[in-house]
Amino acid sequence: MGACVTLAGVTRDFPEGFLWGASTAAHQVEGNNDNSDWWDWELVDGGAHVHEPSGVAIDQWHRYRDDMALLGGLGHNAHRLSVEWSRLEPEPGRFDDEAFDHYADVLDTVLANGMTPFVTTYHFTLPRWFAARGGWLADDAVERYATFVAEVARRLGAERLPFVCTVNEPQIIPLEGYLLGVFPPGHEDFDEFQAANRALASAHRAAVAALRSVSSDIRTGTCLQLIALEPARPDDEGDRELAAMMRREMSEMHLDDLRAGGDVGDWVGVQYYSRTRLDSSRQPPIAPPPEGVETTLMGWEVFPEGLRRALDDAATVGLPLYITENGIATADDTQRVRYLDSHLRIVADAIRDGIDVRGYMYWSAFDNFEWARGYPPTFGMVAIDRDDDLTRRVLPSAAAYRRVIETGRVDALTAPAG
Ligand code: BGC
Repeated sequence: MGACVTLAGVTRDFPEGFLWGASTAAHQVEGNNDNSDWWDWELVDGGAHVHEPSGVAIDQWHRYRDDMALLGGLGHNAHRLSVEWSRLEPEPGRFDDEAFDHYADVLDTVLANGMTPFVTTYHFTLPRWFAARGGWLADDAVERYATFVAEVARRLGAERLPFVCTVNEPQIIPLEGYLLGVFPPGHEDFDEFQAANRALASAHRAAVAALRSVSSDIRTGTCLQLIALEPARPDDEGDRELAAMMRREMSEMHLDDLRAGGDVGDWVGVQYYSRTRLDSSRQPPIAPPPEGVETTLMGWEVFPEGLRRALDDAATVGLPLYITENGIATADDTQRVRYLDSHLRIVADAIRDGIDVRGYMYWSAFDNFEWARGYPPTFGMVAIDRDDDLTRRVLPSAAAYRRVIETGRVDALTAPAG
């Protein structure tokens, strides 16, 4: 694509028409999603699995009109959100009209505020009934999911669904839920991990077919978190083998499936946060970040180079790429601006080098429920004051991000265009 020159002769890092926005997921922002496996997971064993339950989250179920107006006002031209399966299909085969009406209105509101919706049909939470039947390990799991996705397309319609993300992080769900045991169903079983991982690759393909059966206007893709996985001790054979094996499961298996062809969608979603160094002598076999590196409130290393690796890997599929998540949990908003700066520079370089990246969505629009870690890790460009009626407070990083959106230039983040 190369660097782009505007009429005024100023070089842009990002082309006109680039999609800019922020991402969220239903369970993390809506509140009271009490019919899902996650809701149960938050409450079982006296709450032992989570820092705190999600409760009202940021009450976006009720406050979406103001929230979407806020994001549109911050210059975003796209917004990624998810629809909650457990609300839409509360019992097998029974679809809830009111919940569909709600999301129709949410998406109309996104559009009315000048933003293109990116709609995820499954972001970590399962209806309680689906989980009770064995979740992704049930024989007909993929088929059931595809039936739901087709219903979403039929009821919400292609105009509200210009972009659909079929599965959010098909590798993270099995990793956290079936191998590390920190997400529901809380298992630690390698065979189940592999089985769920493959089921979720199939779920993507089946969802693409389901969407196509309803409309050819919906542009769809899967959203892969491509972690920079490395051996902690490059000289150690055990670490090297472990890293190679996890890379196969966490990225190559999914990328191979996409490269294998057939209808695998129209784009690939790339999600990237950090590097993970694998150490076979530890349990779990994950090394802490190297001494002295910058880290985030998640304890994750800031490692922008990993984003380039993720883009290079995803580009081998041969479809356009959208960065559907990238962001930082921090209590220091100036660190957020630095993170954006280093990561957006990587994206700009990748575009200059010919990688077809068409959009960037920061994780996250708002502070939200960070799964097992609860509310302390604050990812939002809009902070939520949990002691003051969930008041939204726009941080300076949101204004800095807006300048990038308006100018198409990374340096506008730190040097306001004048
Ligand atoms: C998920 C988000 C999550 C974020 C930060 C991604 O794995 O899609 O739901 O909040 O990372 O942990």
